[in-house]
Amino acid sequence: MQVVSTIAQVRAWRRSLQGPLGLVPTMGYLHEGHLSLVRRARQENPHVAGSIFVNPTQFGPQEDLARYPRDLDRDRELLRDAGCALVFVPDAAGMYPPGHETVVDVGSVAGPLEGTRRPGHFRGVATVVLKLFGIFAPDRAYFGQKDAQQLAVIRRMVRDLDVPVEIVGCPTVREPDSLAMSSRNSYLGPEERGAAPVLYRSLLAAKVLWAKGDRDAEALRQAMRDVLAQERLAEIDYVSVADPTSFREIDGPAVTALALLAVRIGRARLIDNALLD
Ligand code: PAJ
Repeated sequence: MQVVSTIAQVRAWRRSLQGPLGLVPTMGYLHEGHLSLVRRARQENPHVAGSIFVNPTQFGPQEDLARYPRDLDRDRELLRDAGCALVFVPDAAGMYPPGHETVVDVGSVAGPLEGTRRPGHFRGVATVVLKLFGIFAPDRAYFGQKDAQQLAVIRRMVRDLDVPVEIVGCPTVREPDSLAMSSRNSYLGPEERGAAPVLYRSLLAAKVLWAKGDRDAEALRQAMRDVLAQERLAEIDYVSVADPTSFREIDGPAVTALALLAVRIGRARLIDNALLD
């Protein structure tokens, strides 16, 4: 597996390939969730590349950019073993040289939920992902349903800007106790880690009501809040039952819906979601 740090190196490698390329963009500190994307890409493409870049433009000023976990040596081994042919590890100056000004603002789908709580976040995500698509020219790119709104933002960008790449959404990989895998789980102390499965329990409460036929969005949100309220260490950022395409909050009865939440536990801000259908 090649590890390269410049755009020119990626382009030279890309030109040497025959057949489709699958791309897996990441911020590193890899776990089974990331590796599931690489394996899926391996099944569907003769060539697979990854990127590791803790993208500064998607972090707010009060967020965790400086302490975001990093372990490049381990990541490299994991990507190699999962079947990546090349990994791109740029530095911030390589991605954003002096004078870089152009950004991608995806429309309404980037507005609510994460878009409101993290102003500018999706602009940073969309811009860096479009740059990666320009650098790699992948045939397919793989993203996790764990970040459901991010996936929707990227799908929307690709559609609106006619980017010739197929976006493949992949299921959320969970720990045995159902906590969604996340690089940010490493922020949790032992007691906090014990509290963290409350996120999925909360989503499950909505799923159970849904299965019983309850379609009242506010009742579903209240059931999620009730579960979270039982965990002293969990502080709700948002609880949502939204349209799975527009991410607009549903009022009244729902046909299909996505239950989403963002919860702070100690230093970690964790997100998760589950489709109600
Ligand atoms: P990062 O958080 O490193 O995630 C990289 C990819 O892995 C994303 O598509 C994310 O949805 C997916 N992923 C994370 N946890 C997962 C899990 N438990 N199961 C399945 N997939 C999971 O998301 C980003 O990086 C960045 O915003 C990025 C897209 C790389 C742009 O900077």
